[in-house]
Amino acid sequence: MSTQERIEKMIKKSEAILAGGGEKRVAKQHEQGKLTARERINLLLDPGSFVELDRFVKHRCYNFGQEKKECPGEGVTTGYGTVDGRLVYVFAQDFTVEGGSLGEMHANKIVKVQRLALKMGAPCVGMNDSGGARIQEATDALGGYGKIFFENTSASGVVPQISAIMGPSAGGAVYSPALTDFIYMVKNTSQMFITGPEVVKTVTGETVTKEALGGAMTHNTKSGVAHFAAENDEDCINQIRYLLSFLPSNNMEPAPVVETGDSPMRIDDGLNTLLPDNSNAAYNMYDVITSIVDNGEYYESQKFFATNVITCFARMNGSTVGIIANQPKVMAGCLDINASDKAARFIRFCDAFNIPLLNIVDVPGFLPGTHQEYGGIIRHGAKMLYAYSEATVPKITLVTRKAYGGSYIAMCAQELGADQVIAWPTAEIAVMGPSGAANIIFKKDPDKDVRTAEYIQNFASPYYAAQHQMVDRIIEPKNTRPEICNALQMLVSKREVRPAKRHGNIPL
Ligand code: HXC
Repeated sequence: MSTQERIEKMIKKSEAILAGGGEKRVAKQHEQGKLTARERINLLLDPGSFVELDRFVKHRCYNFGQEKKECPGEGVTTGYGTVDGRLVYVFAQDFTVEGGSLGEMHANKIVKVQRLALKMGAPCVGMNDSGGARIQEATDALGGYGKIFFENTSASGVVPQISAIMGPSAGGAVYSPALTDFIYMVKNTSQMFITGPEVVKTVTGETVTKEALGGAMTHNTKSGVAHFAAENDEDCINQIRYLLSFLPSNNMEPAPVVETGDSPMRIDDGLNTLLPDNSNAAYNMYDVITSIVDNGEYYESQKFFATNVITCFARMNGSTVGIIANQPKVMAGCLDINASDKAARFIRFCDAFNIPLLNIVDVPGFLPGTHQEYGGIIRHGAKMLYAYSEATVPKITLVTRKAYGGSYIAMCAQELGADQVIAWPTAEIAVMGPSGAANIIFKKDPDKDVRTAEYIQNFASPYYAAQHQMVDRIIEPKNTRPEICNALQMLVSKREVRPAKRHGNIPL
């Protein structure tokens, strides 16, 4: 064979693989409102930057006549490229080839990019669209998943791992996304469940649709499995690019600094009048966040889940911060099981990736009741204590209003290592809420009302805590942005070392 013939053979083979499962199946994918694997990758990466690996990989399965089957690209496209000029590894399952099902070599292709991402210190984005383990490959497929889970865990806390669910993700296949840092789900076209509706019906007798069981909004609102919801594939991919803009490429780098054009000295008089005079009346914590961050811009993780706490990325003076804030508009901002899980996981992500934490506190307590106690609020709430205590990134705590008891400690009081505690004059930092406290210590006092008023005057304020060095500064609310930008700048050189250990034992 001449050189020219060899080149032509390679081009022909390549073209066959680039066509995926063929025109019919590609058309079906499009009819369903889904892009193909290659279209998705091309949208994610900077134009022309994609370098494909392992295009010619082929399965080695002889079961059920598989040896006669061509599976172009083995049902997954893998490689690397750039997002905003920064290196990113990627894999996208190709539903048009054997339903994107995962066999031994399909898994090996994914494992290769996972290992490269880890070695090179670059994020890994996985776009999932698969019928699960390729049944013909039996335990070779199962073992493939095992290898992927191992690599997910190995890379956890070293490089950001992002999963997009853009079609079915069923059975054990859901656990690779679950081991990554963030899960995106596309509305109407993606589902995640460990067993589908038919099995559910057989085992429990329950009738449920695919969407209700494991659709995008089910996992964004009810289970908290997903962190972001997207309208369609394009929206999903744009959101992933946006998320990456806030993140460092690995745990040894700081997050990128962006020129946002918003002065760190900007003050906002509106904050002086934001809080209602009645301290039991609600206000919107998003108003505080938009007022203080660069250009009022933030990107919220788990926006629809446990909305009594807000977790988001934003920039202050161009640098990424992770914000954890109580939301007085939802359940008065108290902490419950789901809010604790949501906040703790976000705190640990930020700490792993050098992102300073800004904690905005207006918390009346942990949610009481049998539902919470039976559900284990003690161990879930402990996750926040653990995550904040463990975090060595700069930690700034801003107390706007209520900061009562254990829930205040759990929002990163000074004793959990907050480097700066800043309070508004409206702060109420106390061991417990005034009425609860008065009911205990003034129960038999004939002047209970007078004593309660005195208690509120003397203890539901920032001054007792400030007198005891638990608050660094009490500020006018309008100066919050300059104060926090200044504190972040002061904390840039923070170094904190913890005792050596194999690893801690966070309450799970
Ligand atoms: C082999 C598969 C497959 C699979 C789909 N296909 N899933 N091939 N193994 N797991 C093939 C189909 O045979 C079909 O081939 C093509 O992919 C498209 O599938 P359709 O069924 O035509 O598509 P659709 O109607 O859109 O339905 C999609 C689906 C369905 C809902 C995902 O295919 C399905 O239910 N698949 C099985 C899902 C499942 O039970 N997976 C669990 C496997 S066990 P042709 O040639 O006709 O185009 C598992 C354990 C993992 O995953 C444990 C890890 C720890």
